[in-house]
Amino acid sequence: MNILVVGGAGYIGGVVAQQLVEAGHEVFVFDNLVKGHHQAVPEQARFISGDLVNMDDINQALDLAQADAVFHFAALIEAGESMKKPALYFRANVSNTLNLLESCVTHNVKRLVFSSTAAVFAASDAPLTEMSPIQPANCYGETKLMVEQMLRWFNSVHGLRYGVLRYFNACGAYGPRGEAHTPETHLIPLTLQAATGQRPYITVYGTDYPTPDGTCIRDYIHIYDLATAHLRALDYLADHETITCNLGTGTGYSVREVIDMARKVSGKSFEVRESERRPGDAPRLVASSDLARRELDWQPRYTLLEDMVGSAWEWMVRHPNGYPS
Ligand SMILES: NC(=O)c1ccc[n+]([C@@H]2O[C@H](COP(=O)([O-])OP(=O)(O)OC[C@H]3O[C@@H](n4cnc5c(N)ncnc54)[C@H](O)[C@@H]3O)[C@@H](O)[C@H]2O)c1
Repeated sequence: MNILVVGGAGYIGGVVAQQLVEAGHEVFVFDNLVKGHHQAVPEQARFISGDLVNMDDINQALDLAQADAVFHFAALIEAGESMKKPALYFRANVSNTLNLLESCVTHNVKRLVFSSTAAVFAASDAPLTEMSPIQPANCYGETKLMVEQMLRWFNSVHGLRYGVLRYFNACGAYGPRGEAHTPETHLIPLTLQAATGQRPYITVYGTDYPTPDGTCIRDYIHIYDLATAHLRALDYLADHETITCNLGTGTGYSVREVIDMARKVSGKSFEVRESERRPGDAPRLVASSDLARRELDWQPRYTLLEDMVGSAWEWMVRHPNGYPS
């Protein structure tokens, strides 16, 4: 199939683009490189420089790609920043996505797979299923929920088939592609940067949460498994209208457990500082991914924290400064 990967120069989009190439698809990557890296784009994919804010850019990309399907990763992704600059996030994540959806309809795109997030859910002690209460705690989560709602109407009015994949915490590396956000806000790379000495210390925000060791618990999913689920979702949409599902392993790890594992896999010691809770951080976010396992016939390969942090560490050792600029 011809596939347009929007945001395919980013961390997750680059790995999905690579797996699509490996599966034999004709892959086009559309990205403005505001956060992405040229090196993350597979060599066999055709890179199209463009910005979702600009309808002409999107229309030209879809004219060129003649895409049967679109994967949509492009977004601003920092929950904390979204609480300081909501307008920026609603424009970048909602209004830009509307441009893309409009263009998909006029170009007769049949299937779209969208990157959503665990941040659409209300916090819960129990594993989150697709039926769990929805209540974003930050503007970032709200923008993703708004796109989910737009997709429902684009399906019912225009017949655009969609997969909404609600990721928990992506981590690890796949071949030459790894996590290199600027600024980095994710716990595993931040902790490993403390291990390499690129950061003087790692901060733990909140040690009095109602969890066994008092720190927040999150569900981590390896980038390989996350990407595999996207390819399954693409196939699923060949004979289904829609799917909305969670992608995690179902196991939660605390901030302290991640820090201890970073010490173990790196063999380095580093300073850990404790700080106040941050507003909007839920004590525990863990996925039930039964629906993805059942409907997409998907099974995560990496479930142990050691393998996930180890994968991120190996990449960081090989790329101490991220991608070369
Ligand atoms: N990283 C995670 O753990 C995680 C968790 C849940 C959901 N998600 C979602 O997954 C998606 C990908 O996340 P990521 O970690 O790969 O982020 P990323 O920042 O590495 O990738 C996003 C890509 O989109 C591009 N982009 C942004 N705005 C654009 C625009 N207007 N036009 C064209 N390109 C644009 C960026 O240049 C970048 O290459 C995002 O939608 C994010 O919300 C990520």
